[in-house]
Amino acid sequence: MATINVVTTSIFDQSADSIACFVEQDGALSAEALSGITKLFPAYESAKTKHNFVGRASSSLVLSGNRQGKVVDLIIMGLGQKNAQGVVDIERYRRSLGSLVRIVEARKGTSLAVAVPHAQLFGLSDDQLAKQTTIALEMARYHFDEFITDDDRRVKDLKTITLVGSDKSNEALQAGVHEGTIIAQAVNQCRRWIDLPAESLHPIHMATHAADISKKHGLKVTVFNEKEVAQMGMGGLAGVSQGSDRDCQFVIMEYSCGKKDAPMLAFVGKGITFDSGGLSIKPATSMENMKDDMSGAAAVINAMQVLAALKPKVNVVGIAPISENLPSGKAIKPGDILRFYNGKTAEVKNTDAEGRLILADALSYAVKHYKPDAIIDLATLTGSCAAALGPHFTGMMSKHDALVERVQQAAARTGEQLWRLPLPDEYKVAIKSSVADMSNIGSQRYMAGAVTAALFLQNFVGDVPWVHLDIAGTAYDVPDIAYYRPEGATGVGVRLLVELAMNWK
Ligand code: BES
Ligand code: ZN
Ligand code: ZN
Repeated sequence: MATINVVTTSIFDQSADSIACFVEQDGALSAEALSGITKLFPAYESAKTKHNFVGRASSSLVLSGNRQGKVVDLIIMGLGQKNAQGVVDIERYRRSLGSLVRIVEARKGTSLAVAVPHAQLFGLSDDQLAKQTTIALEMARYHFDEFITDDDRRVKDLKTITLVGSDKSNEALQAGVHEGTIIAQAVNQCRRWIDLPAESLHPIHMATHAADISKKHGLKVTVFNEKEVAQMGMGGLAGVSQGSDRDCQFVIMEYSCGKKDAPMLAFVGKGITFDSGGLSIKPATSMENMKDDMSGAAAVINAMQVLAALKPKVNVVGIAPISENLPSGKAIKPGDILRFYNGKTAEVKNTDAEGRLILADALSYAVKHYKPDAIIDLATLTGSCAAALGPHFTGMMSKHDALVERVQQAAARTGEQLWRLPLPDEYKVAIKSSVADMSNIGSQRYMAGAVTAALFLQNFVGDVPWVHLDIAGTAYDVPDIAYYRPEGATGVGVRLLVELAMNWK
């Protein structure tokens, strides 16, 4: 990935083929900006009038000018009005940066200079704003076209991005860009893993990537193969994997801050590299995107990479059970009973409810070996959650209000929206089984598939504070958020987990 440069000289001194700035609704440009603009773009005032451009949210004004015989585009992005707190919502700015990159791409620009607005406008510090600017720009320029051979269909790389600071010193900017780049690289790597076809990213690939990352960044890593998983008593993961020709993998990555008595966090991610449903096979259209079913594990592994670099003052273990879910003569069958790592059993009524089976072992493992202060799990767990909340809200289920509050605050800062769903004891009867401790699907009479899935998982966390995040709707194909692409992976969860660990006190 190309990097972002930082300068504090004038935006009009940059040689980029596209230059961009932001305006608040009905806000005036500085005299300096105005004179710079009118010099390069004499049509500015008349274009503004013609298009009635006043800086409304999601609006933009694009002009072409001439700089020493070369075309240069000016893109002014509207930020809309301040909110009730007297600031512009940072998420609106992030999305606006996304739209900016789309405009530059459509115009085949390859270099962009962005005048970073004043941080006070968003109620942030300079480094925070530089970090958010970097993350949004880098996420926006991610694209997955490595399998497309027609050059015209490939996204023209926006190779160079320069941030122009309004301040005299660029130290804060540099620091923010540095941190933002580390985070964005991990988010985009996470997205690429998800976007890769399941044949290009199967469990062994994924575990190998996790091991490579760990070695490169100095994390402790342990990987158990299928035989070891079965021997250890992880009947859920071994069971789900037994229909596949490929071995499952159980990945454990450990970040240590150097203090044994520091708080311990556990991040657990669902890693189904392809979910066919197993013998309870999915209809063809429901299977189309099931290469994304490892999004939780990808988020956890990539967040661990960031923690190794940014070194928060907590200890963190990242756990990823990784498997394919395929039908075959060896596959688990409806009616089978599996025994998990904590000794509990479940009747598998539907082999397509496989995520909870592999997470049951992973959560039990985290509880037993790490006694964490908190567990966060991320999983593309239920279509029910996607149906309830749509593509912009991750479902959050927990009994622990204090942990929910922390997670919500982290999410508010990163822009990954969460919505809490209930986790009521009265629905526990929905996952009753007459032959095992529980059933792996909820009874139809209770509906609430996202909730009954979470109630299943609750059996494996003991009394450790735990938040379950169902990312089935938010991990893939999310529309209208311009720093994502409408098709493909979002990398949801990476920023959130990092933010949570970095601010844990
Ligand atoms: N991976 C799916 C959930 C999913 C659905 C993720 C759509 C992303 C988009 C999961 O393994 C699954 O199949 N869940 C079933 C559970 C049901 C059988 C109880 C579902 O949601 O239909
Ligand atoms: Zn499934
Ligand atoms: Zn699944």
